[in-house]
Amino acid sequence: MRPQVLNAIPRDVVAVRDYEPYARARLDDNAWVYLTAGAADEITLKDNIDAFVRIKLKGRVLKDVRGGHTRLELFGQAYAHPIFLAPVAYHRLFHPDGELATAMGAGAMAANMVLSTLATTRLEDVAAQASGPPLWFQLYMQPELTASLSLVRRAEASGYKALVITVDAPVSGVRNAEQRGGFTLPGGVSAVNLEDLTQPAPVVGQSVVFDTLMGRAPLWTDIERIITQTRLPVLIKGVLAPEDACRAFDIGAAGIVVSNHGGRVLDTLPATIDALPEIAEAVDGRGPVLLDGGIRRGSDVFKALALGATAVMIGRPYIHALAAAGALGVAHCLRTLREELEVCMALSGCARLSDIGRSDLRL
Ligand SMILES: Cc1cc2nc3c(=O)[nH]c(=O)nc-3n(C[C@H](O)[C@H](O)[C@H](O)COP(=O)(O)O)c2cc1C
Repeated sequence: MRPQVLNAIPRDVVAVRDYEPYARARLDDNAWVYLTAGAADEITLKDNIDAFVRIKLKGRVLKDVRGGHTRLELFGQAYAHPIFLAPVAYHRLFHPDGELATAMGAGAMAANMVLSTLATTRLEDVAAQASGPPLWFQLYMQPELTASLSLVRRAEASGYKALVITVDAPVSGVRNAEQRGGFTLPGGVSAVNLEDLTQPAPVVGQSVVFDTLMGRAPLWTDIERIITQTRLPVLIKGVLAPEDACRAFDIGAAGIVVSNHGGRVLDTLPATIDALPEIAEAVDGRGPVLLDGGIRRGSDVFKALALGATAVMIGRPYIHALAAAGALGVAHCLRTLREELEVCMALSGCARLSDIGRSDLRL
């Protein structure tokens, strides 16, 4: 028998990684392998975390940081802190209330949540549950533009305030760990928001990758069409090359997310924090640059902001917390990271996010 979801935070959960053993004990092997797997040899998965460890803080003393805070504004919306919840598929694999529990936890900490296209709860129902800032919707482009637009219209109608179009996984990664574990979606867990959408018959050609999968993958022109047909700001997620970052702004994107999909798609891509400085320099303030991948400490958030990120998103840490302790866990995970960020800011002499810069790191 697996232990039940916790209804109080254990005393030994003092950092977000402390949730991992509690989550492991509550998830079956199938859900666990889906959550933890990276692509191929998991070099990028590991490096996302290691790269933060390689970067050292400088540390400053005796500076006046009274009245400090972690507030920011994005697209006209105020946020209490820059720690957002990344889109993660299939929350009901991890907790019976799925995305509803996540939204409740995010609301308690006034955190921004980005709902995945592959959510296991209708996007309208998750929006209705949100008690914090309005949510953002992550869009996987569908083979037919009309299907993508129908998701966009539903997100607009339910009050989502931005679209995050993920472009780095047109072919799902070679996730060997997941293959070895024989992952399958259990009955009752599905991408319910895609249920009414028709899928075209697959094109059969010489190569499954080039003819079938990439044959229906989006191109820059498709993203541009979405941008011109929605009033919502659009962020492009999965950017690692400075050229792509600039192109995103050229076609009218409002922002980008520097991401390698948590090391799940193409192994040996760089750690996101290593890719960030060049991208931030290339886009030169044209719009917000978010980053995700490997954030496990408030000091990681600080380092990302110091190297040019406007805000960050976390993936696995809040899912571990969700699996362990539901909405309470998600809220506690966010609070832990925010408090660590505040400590790091205070001990670096930064009272506001805008005070954080490269000179606060020992590069
Ligand atoms: C189990 C799992 C499912 C994910 N599903 C999605 C998804 O549906 N859409 C998406 O854009 N990214 C997805 N991601 C990637 C996350 O949005 C994010 O980029 C990544 O988890 C950040 O790395 P971290 O887990 O180290 O924080 C998923 C990640 C994980 C671990």
